[in-house]
Amino acid sequence: MKRSPLVMVLSMSTCVALSACGRGALPPGAVEAAAVPPPGLDTPEGVANFWSSNCAGCHGADGQLGAARPLDDPLWWRTMPDAQVVETVAVGLGRLMPGFSARAKGGPYIAYANLGDAEIELVVKGLRARWGTPGEPAAAGAAVRLGDAARGASVFANACASCHANGTAASVTDPMFLANITDQGLWSAVVFGRPDLGKAATTLSPGEVADVVAHLAAMRPAWASAAALDPAAPSKPATGDSTP
Ligand code: HEC
Ligand code: HEC
Repeated sequence: MKRSPLVMVLSMSTCVALSACGRGALPPGAVEAAAVPPPGLDTPEGVANFWSSNCAGCHGADGQLGAARPLDDPLWWRTMPDAQVVETVAVGLGRLMPGFSARAKGGPYIAYANLGDAEIELVVKGLRARWGTPGEPAAAGAAVRLGDAARGASVFANACASCHANGTAASVTDPMFLANITDQGLWSAVVFGRPDLGKAATTLSPGEVADVVAHLAAMRPAWASAAALDPAAPSKPATGDSTP
């Protein structure tokens, strides 16, 4: 198993943050500052550094207004078990969320190390400490379940169309939108809402949520089927070596 020590990750990111990388950058004769060990992933600073170099580009500096649902949402954290978040970060989710471990489809996204699950667990615990709060989890649960698409069509007409079919909110039946969001992403959008965009958490029952998600999933174009979005599905052989 080839894995660079984690300290590499952190020293690389510190180096990027200070934009003073590499000995070559020092003028001849300059004295190099004594190396300060970077904060580990078991510290809030270490996780904050890791977030800014690996996640913030897509998820936003403070976990919101990025390409995905907000991750600074306490209700979401309350409902998501660590194991599910670790799996998402390890293998990725759909077309847009890359995986960071050696198990990731197509190889790890992280450029200079394959993160192990133990390291990803530290990141997830650190993010939970930053954004989670104790309380009752959302009744509909964390993991997507698909119900009956036909029943879901009437749930959509009754509970969603008032905003999503009249221009008040974005069209969530748009094929390009559906091609680029996973069933899990649709589920989370309905159950937890988008507090960053003014969309409330659902008041539907877990069964109705499962039905309406099945209805949306059934409208996804065939070329972007759930199998193609599923990170656990067998991938094409990777082109090139992704583990430098
Ligand atoms: C009161 C208005 C309202 C209702 C009712 C509503 N939504 Fe939304 N929804 C929003 C807003 C606002 C957003 C944020 C995006 C935007 O501004 O268009 C959103 C976003 C979404 C998204 C995209 C989330 C993302 O991460 O990109 C999905 C999917 C969605 N809604 C599904 C549903 C479904 C399914 C229902 C019915 C069960 C529903 N919504 C009911 C207002 C509503
Ligand atoms: C290249 C952009 C990108 C990067 C980098 C990225 N993400 Fe994501 N992430 C996304 C997108 C887009 C989604 C939504 C995917 C979907 O639902 O189809 C997502 C989804 C997620 C989810 C699941 C949310 C849910 O609905 O269940 C978690 C958790 C997550 N990302 C954590 C992270 C962490 C932690 C990092 C850094 C280690 C990271 N992401 C880096 C783009 C990214």
